[in-house]
Parts: sequence; structure tokens; C-alpha cells
Amino acid sequence: MAKFATMIACFSGCGNSRLVADRLALLLSDSVTAIGPSTGWSGLPGDKTRMIWVFPIYSWGVPPVVVRHIAGATLPDDMEHYMVCTCGDDTGLAARQWRRLIRRRGWNAVGAWSVTMPNTYVLLPGFDVDSPALADAKLAAAPARIEAIARGIRHRARVDDVIRGSMPWLKSRIVYPLFRRFMMSPRPFRTTDACTACGLCERECPMGNIAIGSDGRPSWGGDCALCLGCYNRCPAHAVAYGRATAAKGQYHAPRRLPE
Ligand SMILES: Cc1cc2nc3c(=O)[nH]c(=O)nc-3n(C[C@H](O)[C@H](O)[C@H](O)COP(=O)(O)O)c2cc1C
Repeated sequence: MAKFATMIACFSGCGNSRLVADRLALLLSDSVTAIGPSTGWSGLPGDKTRMIWVFPIYSWGVPPVVVRHIAGATLPDDMEHYMVCTCGDDTGLAARQWRRLIRRRGWNAVGAWSVTMPNTYVLLPGFDVDSPALADAKLAAAPARIEAIARGIRHRARVDDVIRGSMPWLKSRIVYPLFRRFMMSPRPFRTTDACTACGLCERECPMGNIAIGSDGRPSWGGDCALCLGCYNRCPAHAVAYGRATAAKGQYHAPRRLPE
């Protein structure tokens, strides 16, 4: 095991990518390190020779928080790098972007895979969470897919096994940069009267970006990944993003994937 001991670095807003990372950890006998607000790892155990980056797709690209982590991580140069992303539908050219980011560091980008999981994005017209039946079908298919990915990683497969979808160039090269620039502001976040001041949003925010005021209500700081963990996890459906979420559903990730 020591020869290919694995480090799994995971960013997850709503739980999907964490479910995938945890299952990979089980299959590859290793543990998961969460990607949070601070960048740069030090004190990495010396036996770690394989890094698996697990994260959701954001607007057909790599989430900016993961981009920052790849740029800032202190890792041994001889590690092999793998990407396992989760997406609601398709990835566009995100695998290509990830390979560029890894190579820019002088590292070895080996294999890239996507796992289709329930959709979490609701902020634009026409986008909503999946029906319960579709979400369940995606979750039911995930374990076999993750097993196949673990086999690929064990065999050090040099593949891009991702669902790129239609018009990937337009989505990743035109829409993604615009989305990053104009559509990722935390400013529209607020709570509705349904807020029970339970504080779950603050506890679950992977960026530590939510503060609870003296009235028990949350407020959002500037270091938001737009992961929508606060929106989707809120037990009272009380987190709103301007008016964009008025008629939108929520996705609650299960505690574990089906066997
Ligand atoms: C800001 C944002 C952008 C997204 N963009 C895409 C996308 O371009 N393609 C896609 O298939 N899913 C997209 N999704 C859905 C997520 O990638 C998918 O639901 C993922 O499994 C969520 O992972 P998480 O639960 O670990 O946060 C997006 C979600 C968010 C929050």
C-alpha cells in the first residue's frame, strides 16, 4: 500500500463530492482531506505518492476555490495526480482545464473521471434541482461508477473519462469565465422569515464564510465559493439568493451512498 498511498483532497458544498471521496477512500484504503478557505498544505506524510482531486463542476469548469488550492499547494513533485469530479449533467472541458492547472505546477496529471450526481445549482432561470426520482437514479448508479474509477486509478489509467456534453468549448471557454466574473457574488444571499436561527448554515459552510449575528441570523462574508451548501442544506428552506430561489427546490444529500 505504501507505494501508492493516496491523498484525497475534496471540496464539496452540498455533500455529493464528499460521498464520492469517502467511497473512493474506502476502496483505496485512505482518508479524505477537506479543501477549505486556507490554501497550501505542509507536513504531508512522505508516503503519499498519489493525489486525487475530488470536486464539483461549476459552470463547466473547476471551482475557483480548487483552482486556488492547486496553485497554492505544497506537494512533492513526483506525485501522480487524478481528477474525480461530480456534475449534475456535463463537465464541458473541465478535465482539460484541470490538466493545464496541474501541468502548470510541473506535476503529472494522469487520469480524469466524472460521476453524475444530483444537481445542486438553482440560481439561473431554467436551472433547478432534480426530481426525487432522477436524483435517486443518479445516486443508485454512483457506486458502480466509483468502483470503476477506483480500478482505473489503481491501474494508473491515462484517460479522460468524463461526460463533456454538447458545445463544450462554448460552455467552458466563454460561459465559465463570464460566470466566474459576474455570477459568483455572495451579496444576494439573505434569509427569509422562515429562518429558525438554527445555525446549521454557519456550521456547514466549507469556506467558514457565514457568521451568526446577535439575532441568530446568518450573514455572508466575501469568501464564498457559491457552493450552495447553505441554500440546499437549510432545514427551513430559508436561505434565499435575491429572488432567484423563490420557486426553486432543494437537494439534501444522503448520509451515505446506496450499497
Ligand atoms: C455554482 C454551481 C455551478 C454548477 N455548474 C454545473 C455545470 O456546469 N455542469 C453540471 O453538470 N453541474 C453543475 N453544477 C452541479 C454540481 O456540479 C453537482 O450537483 C455536484 O455534484 C455538486 O457537488 P457537491 O454536492 O459536492 O457540492 C453546478 C453547481 C453549482 C453550485
